[in-house]
Amino acid sequence: MTLFEHDFVAAGSTERPVGDTGRMLQMMTGYWVTQVVRTAAELRIADHLHAGGATPAEVAEAESLDPDSAFRFLRACASLGLATSTDGKRFAGTPLLDTLRTDAPGSLRNLALWGGAESHWLPWGRLADTVRTGTTQAEAALGAPIFDWLAAAPKEAEIFTRAMTAMTRGLAHKLADVIDLEGARVAVDVGGAGGNLVQTLMQRHPRLTGVVLDLPHVGAEADASAAALGVTDRFTFVGGDFFEQVPPADVHLLKFVLHDWDDDSCVRILRNCRKALGPGGRVLVMELLVDKVGTPGLEPLMDLNMMALSTGRERSLDEFENLFERAGLKLASTLPSASRVSVLELVPA
Ligand SMILES: C[S@@+](CC[C@H](N)C(=O)[O-])C[C@H]1O[C@@H](n2cnc3c(N)ncnc32)[C@H](O)[C@@H]1O
Repeated sequence: MTLFEHDFVAAGSTERPVGDTGRMLQMMTGYWVTQVVRTAAELRIADHLHAGGATPAEVAEAESLDPDSAFRFLRACASLGLATSTDGKRFAGTPLLDTLRTDAPGSLRNLALWGGAESHWLPWGRLADTVRTGTTQAEAALGAPIFDWLAAAPKEAEIFTRAMTAMTRGLAHKLADVIDLEGARVAVDVGGAGGNLVQTLMQRHPRLTGVVLDLPHVGAEADASAAALGVTDRFTFVGGDFFEQVPPADVHLLKFVLHDWDDDSCVRILRNCRKALGPGGRVLVMELLVDKVGTPGLEPLMDLNMMALSTGRERSLDEFENLFERAGLKLASTLPSASRVSVLELVPA
């Protein structure tokens, strides 16, 4: 039997696959869609097809593309439900594509750029070696550990930081709803990237001073984000290394940081937070929590993302508690939020 005797429906297609063979073929072509979406984001297809649509020649002219390839790309977009065309000549964007518009509230464009960017794409291409060796493939694929590589690749670093902001923007209010900052004057977002989380908290708490500690190259994005959210006068970016030291605070925020690192590295970061906590201070760890095997959900796949890219992993609550204990901290409460992310509140043991 040849491939095409099966129900060969590419991933993301508006057709429905039939049976396990069809579904398996769809899984095999998942990466095609990742790169269609990344390319649509890069070439601002959503912006071009918005309001009246455009012909492939118009898009090609605007983005300096090969016209025939632009047509073929838009035709594929139409087969994925990203565009429509009644005459095969003029294409309009769908609401699905509109999520990538540059000016859409909560735009997913920066996340789409990141999902298919080299920093992710190349290590994922070596997933089998990760599983074989139990080691991250960032060095083999990129030549350096992921955050070192990003520090030397300004364009990719900008994509990464903006993607973190885009992701956090969708979560920050849900987390802020369960975070009690009563009595806190200074909050430090440790590895806070663009700082959307602490800046959202600052908007809600007008007397709160906010700091982002992150690698120095992230500073410009963090300052721009603070300005966009109107909190510049109470915000400071500190370029530094959380393995060395962390600025003093009443509350340290650690969101999606521990999952990037192996246990010993996490303990170093947590110890540095503990050392820098003011009296009555707290550390708030915000992460996905891995549930029992077979539970459907994002966590086991995000765990593979960490495995391919970094030395990190997704963890269960028990695994986190073990890290906290080693760092001289104890879990005071676990606060589920209206998202997949839990807030773990830690105090000195
Ligand atoms: C997965 S991102 C999370 C960003 C942010 N907390 C969020 O949830 O959107 C991890 C962050 O850790 C930062 N980082 C990595 N190594 C660091 C180090 N040694 N010191 C300080 N920040 C670091 C990265 O630059 C990145 O912004």
